[in-house]
Order: sequence, then C-alpha cells, then structure tokens
Amino acid sequence: MTAASLPLPRPATGEARIDHTSDEPVALLQLDVADAAEAASAVYREFRRGRRVVAVACGGDGAATRLADALDRIGVATARPGPGQALLEAPVSIVTGPDAALQGPQGAPARPLRVALAGCGVVGGGVLARLRADDRFEVVGVLVRDPGKPREPAVPEGLLLSDPAALLAREPDVLVEAISDASTGLALIRAALSRGVDVVSANKQAVGGDLAALTALARANDARLLYSASVGGGSPLIETVRRARAHAPVVRIEAVLNGTCNFILNRLAEGAAFEAALAGAREAGFAEEDPTADLSGLDAAAKLAILAHEALDGSLSPERIGRQTLAADAVLPAGRVRQLARLDVRADSAGVALVAVDGDPLLADLPDEWNALRVTTGDGRVFTARGRGAGRVPTTESVWADLADLVAA
Ligand SMILES: NC(=O)c1ccc[n+]([C@@H]2O[C@H](COP(=O)([O-])OP(=O)(O)OC[C@H]3O[C@@H](n4cnc5c(N)ncnc54)[C@H](OP(=O)(O)O)[C@@H]3O)[C@@H](O)[C@H]2O)c1
Repeated sequence: MTAASLPLPRPATGEARIDHTSDEPVALLQLDVADAAEAASAVYREFRRGRRVVAVACGGDGAATRLADALDRIGVATARPGPGQALLEAPVSIVTGPDAALQGPQGAPARPLRVALAGCGVVGGGVLARLRADDRFEVVGVLVRDPGKPREPAVPEGLLLSDPAALLAREPDVLVEAISDASTGLALIRAALSRGVDVVSANKQAVGGDLAALTALARANDARLLYSASVGGGSPLIETVRRARAHAPVVRIEAVLNGTCNFILNRLAEGAAFEAALAGAREAGFAEEDPTADLSGLDAAAKLAILAHEALDGSLSPERIGRQTLAADAVLPAGRVRQLARLDVRADSAGVALVAVDGDPLLADLPDEWNALRVTTGDGRVFTARGRGAGRVPTTESVWADLADLVAA
C-alpha cells in the first residue's frame, strides 16, 4: 500500500447501510446493577464483540436508569422499550428485571494477575482506580515521568516508579501501557513482549508505528498484544474492522478518528472562533496542552495505520499518509466539516483531510468528541460503528475490556 494525499471524498450517500442486520448475534444478560459501572462493563464487552444486547436490569427502582446512564458515559446508545415495543432497535435494549439477579456459579478466585501500569494520567488513572477495586488484579508498579506530582486517584507509596526497566523488573504478567510518549511507550511494549509479558496499550503513536513488527514479536514470545483503546476511545472501531474483514475483503475505510478535531469542528460550525473552540476542547479534557498531533492529522494517521493493519495485515507508516492541518487560517469547505481519515484499497490511497459530509447520516451528526467508522467490503456490505472517541471513562472501559479478555483467555 502506498500513501497518497487524499482526493476530497464525497459522502457515500448512495451506499447500502447495514447498521441493523438480522444476522447480528444477540446477547441476553441478566445484571445486578448494584454496581452500575460493573454492569455496564459486562454490556460493553458484548457490544464491542458486535452483539446486540438485551440487558435485564435487576436491583429495584432505578436500576434500568442507572445502567443506561453508565452506558451513556461510555458512549453506548441504549433504548428502554416498553411493553409491546420491539427489542433490538438500539445496540442495547434495557428492560427492568426482578429486584435480585440470579447468581451464576462463582469460580474459585485464581491467583491475581500482576499488572504493571505505565502512565497515570487521564487513561492510566482511570485504569488504576478499576484495578485497585478488583481482586482479580494486583498492581505491582506504576510508571510515571514525575513521581512527585499530585494524582487522582492517589498512588500508594512504593508503587510509583520513573524507570521503565524497574517497572518490568517487578515481573508483571501484563503491562498496561497508557503513557503519552511514543518512543518510551514503544520501547516498553517491545521489552515486555520480548519477555513474554502480555501488553494492553492505549498508545496509538507507539502501537501504530509498526504494528506488523509488534504483532510478530508478540507471537514469537507467546505473548498477547491488545490495543483496542488506541483507536476510537470507547467506540469499538478495531473490532468493527475485524468483523468486516472476517466477512469479506475490506475495500474502503472512512472514519472520524480524532475527538479533539471533531469537537473543534462542531464548535466552529456553531460560529465559535478557532482559539475559543480549541480552548473549549482543552477545558472539556480532550485537547492536550500541545494539540499539534491532533490538528495536523498525525493522530488520525496513526489510528488509520492501525485500522489498515487490521484490514490488510500490511504496514502503512503514519508518516506516509497524506494530511491536511486544521488551523485558524485553514480554508474549510462549506457545510458540515469533519477531519476524515480514508483508506481506499483499490485506489491504493490513504489520507486525512477536512471534508464536508452533509447528508451522510453516520458522519454529519457526530457530537462533541465522538468518533465514527464506516468499513466497506468487496461485496458491498457496510459495517459501521460510533461512540465516544476520547475521555477517561470510555477509554478506561476499552482498556478494561482488553484486560477482561486476557483474564478470560
Ligand atoms: N485521553 C484520552 O482520551 C485517550 C484516548 C485514547 C487513547 N489515549 C492514549 O493513551 C495514552 C495516555 O493518554 P492520557 O490522556 O492518559 O495522557 P496524560 O493524561 O498526559 O498522561 C500521560 C501519562 O504518561 C506519563 N508519561 C509520559 N511520558 C513518560 C515517560 N517518558 N516516562 C514515564 N511516564 C511518562 C505521564 O507521567 P506524569 O503524570 O508524571 O506526567 C502521565 O502519567 C496516550 O498515548 C494517548 O494517546 C488517550
């Protein structure tokens, strides 16, 4: 696959849309909503496998509402069908169940999984809070740049480290890598995989550089590398490409992959000035102090490279993907504009560009930091996904689902 700058794509309004297929599997879950976040995690894991979910919310008055609210924070759309109304109209249908859920057989607790956590910021902090509340896991170390910095949640004494080698010396079973530095992240992932340590990463700049090589390294050392959160935050974009590819060869990917740019473009459309829109993205916690990677399209290019690997196995270097920068003086097309990442397999082109998407039902109405994906396969079938593309809650959920997959395997 060679990279070329992207000809401005037209919205694919003429395509068949298969958002609701009758052959999608359905999961029926009876859930105790005493812990709404845990119940939402169980739903999310089924949702990201591509299943439509019927969730029976148990736990008395308000259980269904608490579950719907927890799923909304992750970015999973729900419906609450009343008596006589159809189920499965939304990805997740919630119905009210009895006060108490049936308890399944409880397995004997296994030895806790030893987890090394790299990064304790927006994502790492969210993961740490979940890890420490779950006795299936033992946190053996937390790598940061500045151990003296105040943190939320606080990190217990003795866990904080600033030397990557010292983190791996604590002999973890799994490394959760959520640091904001691409080269340190990549070196750490390589070192962990070389030792046979499983890795869950949210770091697209580290993972997207050469995913083919990392996957080969994992395979050679009998380790697993999971990176769902690196693309799409909480929206299951990688899983959707995998599902499409399992159906038929992928011929096209179109996606909004950067929550910060989506947020800014929505504010610009409402009439805000560029600097105010960027400040709003920072205030909402989406844009970093230095938003260059987001605005220049480099972040979206790294994510597109990961999706291209999922679709085609090959390595598409993010640096070779054509990009257009969003800036105060950028000349935007008229209409509803998105930063659109596109891979066209037949035309052998890949790029990130600012394009108008009016009339495209998947992309035009995409609020705040949301991401969306459309994958087309050779037989014309279309697979789509949408969800919250950034933020602590949805991104943590995605890392958490990868960890749950590791525990279950
Ligand atoms: N935020 C999101 O919504 C989101 C969504 C999807 C993926 N991601 C990815 O997840 C990763 C983490 O993002 P974030 O938002 O959590 O970033 P963040 O809030 O800036 O936190 C980054 C963490 O990495 C640590 N760190 C940075 N460089 C380091 C180094 N050289 N050695 C050791 N530790 C280092 C920082 O340490 P200090 O705390 O000491 O500074 C901090 O704890 C990034 O790769 C990002 O692209 C983020």
